[in-house]
Amino acid sequence: MVIDEIVSHESVAPGVFRLSFYEPRIASHAKTGQFVIVIPLETGERIPLTINRADPKTNIITLVYQVVGKTTVLLSTLQPGQKLHAVLGPLGKPSHIEKLDKTVVLVSGGLGAAIILPEMYAFRAVGTLVVSVIGARTEDLLLFRDEFERHSDRVLIATNDGSCGVKGFVTDALETYLQEHASEVAFVKAIGPNRMMEAVTKIAAKYNLPTYVSLTSIMVDGTGMCGSCRVSIHGKIYHVCVDGPEFLAEGIDFTELENRNKRFQEMEKKAYETWCQ
Ligand code: FES
Repeated sequence: MVIDEIVSHESVAPGVFRLSFYEPRIASHAKTGQFVIVIPLETGERIPLTINRADPKTNIITLVYQVVGKTTVLLSTLQPGQKLHAVLGPLGKPSHIEKLDKTVVLVSGGLGAAIILPEMYAFRAVGTLVVSVIGARTEDLLLFRDEFERHSDRVLIATNDGSCGVKGFVTDALETYLQEHASEVAFVKAIGPNRMMEAVTKIAAKYNLPTYVSLTSIMVDGTGMCGSCRVSIHGKIYHVCVDGPEFLAEGIDFTELENRNKRFQEMEKKAYETWCQ
């Protein structure tokens, strides 16, 4: 098999795809929480994606991504047997996984479920109890629900329309859980939209619990050189690509991060519209 050859590529929810490819150089030493930068085609942009699964036996890397613009649309058209133009990784620091006497609460929204899923497996593998809180707009948009239900010690679900679990947001399900169980919890980890992670951080703080988050930012080199992925924490600059992507959430300037992540939005929109014509 050729390096970076796609072995499977399928839709797992509307606009969300699971991509697996042969990459022995990365599969052999990737750790939970690390990411890769994918350039799907020679003319494509760089897409940073957290590794959903790295199998050192088969040398297969699996990523889950959402179609959001021209490059991800192009990526979604690639078929098994085709080759990705380039893949860089594994990048970033691995997530901190350890055996704890208390429960870890993993909160994810939307595509965050694909990123937090390997953390759920890793904590369970070392014997730490995991409560997973998953959410989406509607029941059919809940990602990897079966896997969370089969492998977490407990699963709490929230949907905006109430079609499954609590009607509302993951923050509502989290708050209800912490009201009764905060003393059993070591920490909360949240992965999803910036506003969701910020809200989770505030709720956990009410119960004196720390929150860890995994940040997403626009990346170029992925090695700490360009400054594209910078984030302010307590007024100090960090780089998501080399200092993260996992950070203790207290002090993160989520508003600045959100604004920085939107800085090419207009250009991306135009590029997509031009390409569609
Ligand atoms: Fe360039 Fe992080 S992507 S510094």
